Amino acid sequence: MALKYTKKVMDNFLHPKNIGEIKNPDGYAEVGNPICGDMLTFTIKVKNKKITDIKYLSFGCASNIATASVMTEKVKGMTLEKAKKFKWETIINELGGLPKQKIHCSVLVIKGLQKAIEDYETKSGKKTPHRIKTHLSKKL
Ligand code: FES
Repeated sequence: MALKYTKKVMDNFLHPKNIGEIKNPDGYAEVGNPICGDMLTFTIKVKNKKITDIKYLSFGCASNIATASVMTEKVKGMTLEKAKKFKWETIINELGGLPKQKIHCSVLVIKGLQKAIEDYETKSGKKTPHRIKTHLSKKL
């Protein structure tokens, strides 16, 4: 049976925002899902504790591209502290829903964002001793 996507998912899939790679990024992340085989890379620029730019490359499905597009639009200009708390549920609400079997695509995108922030904090010596709370422990 074909998956049903909302108009907003299709718009973000067909006209994705923030595709690409930032040169000399402050933070970098590569994340993948071993089950579906999809992959994403994220690059971020940080200034005054805010994400000033974020780009991604997706080697994944339509909802992977759409969720990354929405997430990058939302977190651009956001403080790192706020971005760390950004949830996959927010992306899904923004898109008007995702098929159940595609929810993990949005979780992967959040994992990438958090990993890129972690990479920035490690490189800049600002990493806190405890791990970033991920919101990924929720059962899908
Ligand atoms: S199907 Fe795995 S990220 Fe979309």
